[in-house]
Amino acid sequence: MNKVVLVTGAKRGIGKQIALTFAKEGYDIATNYIIEDEDVENTKREIEQNNVKCFVTKCDISNFEDCEKFVKEVIEEYGEIDILVNNAGITRDTLLMRMKEEDFRAVIDVNLVGTFNITKNVIPYMIKARSGRIINISSVVGVAGNAGQTNYAASKAGIIGFTKSLAKEVASRNILVNVVAPGFIQTQMTDVLKDNIKEEIANSIPLGRMGTVQDVANVVKFLASEESSYITGQVIHVDGGMLM
Ligand code: NAI
Repeated sequence: MNKVVLVTGAKRGIGKQIALTFAKEGYDIATNYIIEDEDVENTKREIEQNNVKCFVTKCDISNFEDCEKFVKEVIEEYGEIDILVNNAGITRDTLLMRMKEEDFRAVIDVNLVGTFNITKNVIPYMIKARSGRIINISSVVGVAGNAGQTNYAASKAGIIGFTKSLAKEVASRNILVNVVAPGFIQTQMTDVLKDNIKEEIANSIPLGRMGTVQDVANVVKFLASEESSYITGQVIHVDGGMLM
């Protein structure tokens, strides 16, 4: 039987590359979407081309009942969840002076509460199995802060505190919990930025380029592997040296 990885929001971007990277390693994939579009079908097909299964369903991670149902369905389908990657996330950038309460709450609800909602439902199965890996996707911004992203930075810093606390709670059950903090990665999330802004940021990165989705997926794969079995509660920065 294949091992199972649940990656939230894998229809595109970083999540998609994480799912494809695990699929290439022979893992069965479970993922969710909030808006059904052609990306959902295309990604499912690409994953299945690796001769693994892909279970995909609608689930808004900010909704606890949705997450409960989703995780139950994954267990019914596969019987276990070996690795959880909390990837799904949103931004609603603006300066605090202009930020509406709903924009603050929406970002916290998806990025931070969403991570809680999925993890809370997955953890009983990992505890029962006395094994598991949880990798939460934070951001360089959660550590360094960023003007225009008080909501996003708070959610991503929250993920780090959540991860370290959970890592301490479940270490004795052989469950390892870590954070990957990407820097500036080329995806649809960053495509919305103007070219001159992208260039400016890329020039400020010591390695001189934006990161790729594969740069992030490689580290997630490492944190799910046997090679990282003595690493828990850590924040691994994948940012070309942006933050050091
Ligand atoms: P993206 O916008 O391309 O993908 C985000 C995914 O999350 C999509 O599949 C979307 O459908 C899903 N999603 C959003 N809200 C959801 C909800 N309520 N329920 C279920 N799924 C939902 O973004 P990208 O760039 O691939 O980002 C992935 C993760 O990496 C996010 O957590 C993001 O904050 C983080 N990140 C991205 C960086 C970048 O430069 N692109 C840098 C640092 C962190």
